[in-house]
Amino acid sequence: MIAAAQARQSLEQLGLAEAAAVLDGRLEAASQKQLPYADFLADLLSTETAARRERYLRTRTRLAHLPFQRTLDQFDFRFQPSIDKRQVRDLATLTFISEAANVLFLGPPGVGKTHLAIALGLRAIEQGSGVYFVRAHELLEDLRRAQAEHRLERRLRIYLAPKLLVIDEFGVWPYDRMAATAFFTLVSARYERGSIILASNKGFGEWGEALGDSVIAAALLDRPLDVGPKTRHLATRPAPRRRWS
Ligand SMILES: Nc1ncnc2c1ncn2[C@@H]1O[C@H](COP(=O)(O)OP(=O)(O)O)[C@@H](O)[C@H]1O
Ligand SMILES: [Mg+2]
Repeated sequence: MIAAAQARQSLEQLGLAEAAAVLDGRLEAASQKQLPYADFLADLLSTETAARRERYLRTRTRLAHLPFQRTLDQFDFRFQPSIDKRQVRDLATLTFISEAANVLFLGPPGVGKTHLAIALGLRAIEQGSGVYFVRAHELLEDLRRAQAEHRLERRLRIYLAPKLLVIDEFGVWPYDRMAATAFFTLVSARYERGSIILASNKGFGEWGEALGDSVIAAALLDRPLDVGPKTRHLATRPAPRRRWS
């Protein structure tokens, strides 16, 4: 028993709190079941790694600022026949994140854009990517303020750091020119470095109005956002004058 107490203390000193907590029970079970030493050790260590993974996922999920939690399993394609199942399955592989490609979800309110974005975000977290969720008007207000206070560069780092940035509800509110410029800076800076999922109820033709600047909107669509073969488009109804693949 002295050895057990010593082992527990060592586990604690090594920061293996979960293993330390379950040690006595596992020792007893192991001797009762006459478990091989290797089995006992593997079992004890897997308890620790499982606890760590759970803690890691919980922290990452909290840091991601998701407004609610939804999974892909909870998405019912029968309610949403206009969404291509294969496209969603392709997105679920998260290849777009390894390619640092962007994803655009376009469609009217209530069709599941936020749901899908969150579900992909949770999957990305499980896969080990940093994720950050923000609503477009909050993001742009934040960037606008930072720009006005000459600290845009520092503020941008928050939105540049995660492998996946979800920008939801783009185009719901009109933005001013400063916000539009800051937004362009952000999207350009992330270009080919990290993915954006951008959800909007506005068709591409309305982006100029949403950003209060048709030149910025056109530039945004032309290069950093809508760069062609890599960008995934998921539309729940045809957006004007565009194809999606
Ligand atoms: N196809 C679907 N299957 C299951 N739940 C759905 C589906 N589409 C929407 N929902 C649910 O309806 C609500 C509204 O969806 P949401 O993702 O917020 O829509 P949007 O962002 O397009 O306005 C959410 O609670 C979401 O989980
Ligand atoms: Mg939404």
